[in-house]
Amino acid sequence: MTQEIDVSVVNLTKRWGNLTAVNNVSFDVPKGSFFSVLGPSASGKTTVLRMIAGFETPTAGDMFIGGQRINDVPANKRPCNLVFQRLALFPMMNVLDNVTFGLRRRGGISKAEMERMANDVLARVDLKGLNKRKISQLSGGQQQRVALARSLVLDPTVLLLDEPLSALDLKLRQDMKLELKRLQARMGTTFMYITHDQTIALAMSDTVAVINFGKLEQVASPDILYREPATHFVASFVGENNRLNHGRVVKLIDDQTCQVEIGGLLSVARIGEELAPGDDIDLFIRPEMIHLQLGKQASGIVGQIKEINFDGAHSLVVVQLTESAIPLSINVKFQHTEQAPAIAVNDTVTLSWGRAAANAFRHIEPPTEGKE
Ligand SMILES: Nc1ncnc2c1ncn2[C@@H]1O[C@H](COP(=O)(O)OP(=O)(O)O)[C@@H](O)[C@H]1O
Ligand SMILES: [Mg+2]
Repeated sequence: MTQEIDVSVVNLTKRWGNLTAVNNVSFDVPKGSFFSVLGPSASGKTTVLRMIAGFETPTAGDMFIGGQRINDVPANKRPCNLVFQRLALFPMMNVLDNVTFGLRRRGGISKAEMERMANDVLARVDLKGLNKRKISQLSGGQQQRVALARSLVLDPTVLLLDEPLSALDLKLRQDMKLELKRLQARMGTTFMYITHDQTIALAMSDTVAVINFGKLEQVASPDILYREPATHFVASFVGENNRLNHGRVVKLIDDQTCQVEIGGLLSVARIGEELAPGDDIDLFIRPEMIHLQLGKQASGIVGQIKEINFDGAHSLVVVQLTESAIPLSINVKFQHTEQAPAIAVNDTVTLSWGRAAANAFRHIEPPTEGKE
């Protein structure tokens, strides 16, 4: 089955002097999907979006919306609409006038028709009856929805969203996150969502493109991104992980699995990228995929509990490995089920995990502390 593509960028590059903000990026956004671009601050996310929206000219590369090359199409003629990080609403205008703003600029639509269209969209974003309210009289979440309505009323092929939730407090952000996802599913409009917040990207998206220093690292579903990171960066950026530096590949077991040694301890690992025996690797182990047993068991890695940080359904348990040649400690997300043993600080425990929990990538020097 071939999937219809709404937005496509091919070898997209943006340079300012010596700085390459976007470096040869290519991806396809399937029609009707929720597509996120995830990356740390200054990785080039906004620049990608601004090029698609037509506010920035690419140094190289092509952009397509609905199969049409848009490089030379003026911003206001592109079938997309940008929701800004700062919502850029008119605070003294009422909701209705904010929502019909784009329609009035477009022209050729009667006042009654504009109002009907606005009311229709306002109902979809749960703002029915607030037409006459001024923006300054709305809550943060309501303002968010007005900004969405103002874009959606223009019926864009794709809605471009640049971290629109980042100004909200945590609780509201959690609520809006789910709301936005439901809204997207209901409307069926293609959403292209930019964020540095992986919890948002993982929770909302059908597909996530991870970008770092302007380069595309991986494009995949949240599930694949989490379980099968394609690069060292994705493994360290997406989800929580234990990072053990400077291990060594002992042998390849099959085309996806290897055995690694770190501080004299052996572990099975998923091969994250092409590796050969002897390679210097970093090992990433998911805290929630580690099995913890009390006492010294016949197989597994022995350690001692140093800390237990209780967090309701589970605890984050810090285990110092006692048989490694170098000081190593591992965080374990310990689930408090009825079968789970009682644990205490200083207990001797045995940790074990399977291939799925551990990803091996060629070693990269960790960033120095304090630097961004
Ligand atoms: N107009 C500009 N002129 C020069 N450099 C810019 C300009 N806009 C952005 N940059 C630089 O490009 C890089 C990527 O910026 P941006 O796309 O805003 O990142 P993000 O949205 O991921 O935080 C940053 O280093 C930023 O300083
Ligand atoms: Mg940005």
